Amino acid sequence: METTEVVRVPLSTPFGVFDVHAFERPSGHVYLALVVGDVDDGDDVLVRLHSECLTGDALGSLRCDCGVQLRLAMRTIAAERRGVLVYATGHEGRGIGLVNKLRAYVAQDQGSDTVLANEQLGLPVDSRDYGDAAAVLAELGVRSIRLLTNNPDKVRGLTASGAVVRDVVALTTAPHHRNLGYLTTKERRLGHVRPTGTPLAGADELAPATDVTALLGDVEPRADRPYVVLKYAQTLDGRIATSTGDSKWISGEDERRISHALRAACDGVLVGVGTVLQDDPELTVRMVPGASPMRVVIDSKLQLPEAAKVLSHDAPTTVFTSELSAPERRDELRAAGVRVEVIDRTADGIDLAEALAVLRASGTESLLVEGGAKVITSLLGTGLVDRIIVAVAPVLIGEGIEAVGPLGVTEVTAGIRLENRAIFPVGDDVLLAWDVVSVPSTS
Ligand SMILES: NC(=O)c1ccc[n+]([C@@H]2O[C@H](COP(=O)([O-])OP(=O)(O)OC[C@H]3O[C@@H](n4cnc5c(N)ncnc54)[C@H](OP(=O)(O)O)[C@@H]3O)[C@@H](O)[C@H]2O)c1
Repeated sequence: METTEVVRVPLSTPFGVFDVHAFERPSGHVYLALVVGDVDDGDDVLVRLHSECLTGDALGSLRCDCGVQLRLAMRTIAAERRGVLVYATGHEGRGIGLVNKLRAYVAQDQGSDTVLANEQLGLPVDSRDYGDAAAVLAELGVRSIRLLTNNPDKVRGLTASGAVVRDVVALTTAPHHRNLGYLTTKERRLGHVRPTGTPLAGADELAPATDVTALLGDVEPRADRPYVVLKYAQTLDGRIATSTGDSKWISGEDERRISHALRAACDGVLVGVGTVLQDDPELTVRMVPGASPMRVVIDSKLQLPEAAKVLSHDAPTTVFTSELSAPERRDELRAAGVRVEVIDRTADGIDLAEALAVLRASGTESLLVEGGAKVITSLLGTGLVDRIIVAVAPVLIGEGIEAVGPLGVTEVTAGIRLENRAIFPVGDDVLLAWDVVSVPSTS
């Protein structure tokens, strides 16, 4: 079969400038080769063969890991200053096409996994042909490759089509609770090699953990609220900040990477305005390959500064406020693309049960709460927490801010009960997690 290069043009991207070579194949499909550096001298070229996925690549769908993998591959190739990303159109949904892929999603929503769904529709599980990609690489002068993939079938397919695969480089992403089933099916039924990356147990400095599902627990949203996970870092003497409010950094870098993996696993990450004013966190995913969740801020009076990092364009932001905030400020935020919801107040401030119900009604299934003390206390006190994750760090600071304030508990037996303990040492810190199984009994 003939491979025809039809156009070549530089394409600048956030990862740098790629030379795009477009090839038309007799199959009618167009292959784009995004080239960095000199690859026509042939050997050990870093290559990603990326199968088109409109929903993941362009729309950021969390049903799969395609968009995150695509950007990670572009970043990796650009950083090496030599490599090729072959973008294969016609590979949508492992070759079944966009509409059939969406039909398979309907079957998956009724309980089938990604393999069974195709079978039920009478479609092949994987009909991708790697001959076109091998021909494109040969046309570029690439003689041998290091392939960025977790999929042994890609290695076999390219090899069978004449490409020389010298090495395989893993391309793992931090799993989201929504794509975890899909990724584990790919591992179990299609032979992919650990697409979720290294789990917490067994992680080391060379392979830090990206798979934090054992910490997150079973994500089971309620009808009226998301699955809520509290996560904070505390000193060995039980403080989340000094008495002046400083909390940077209680835990070590390895532990903070875990926090980013937890964000990447959830639909939303919530803080109170006290944390925004004190720490100005960005709340995006930066330390692991994954998508940033929606940021959620609880702020009755809209004290949130205009320049707060949680308002950055890198991820969506929702602010829950009350009638105490200025309507003009709400309008300013809305004009800047921030979702602002005005809801009722309780004695503690914003009615958090109502805020969670609003989030659930608009699709949020999982919510990571990263503080601070007042929001943690309110959520625990009102029985709105499913899981608690605490990083205990090897430092003592004496007086300071405690994670949990008054709960009205006067006897230990009336405290909030936790079960299903999980423990992971991470760097010099220890991560502990439990399911929350009761509300505090107050006298
Ligand atoms: N170590 C860690 O993991 C960690 C994590 C996060 C924060 N921190 C530390 O925690 C400290 C901030 O804690 P914080 O307690 O001041 O702030 P916070 O819990 O982040 O925010 C509290 C504020 O949220 C607003 N709010 C509205 N409705 C609420 C409700 N129902 N319940 C509770 N709060 C409600 C209130 O302000 P309005 O009345 O104005 O709405 C309240 O003052 C900082 O020192 C920060 O460094 C540590």
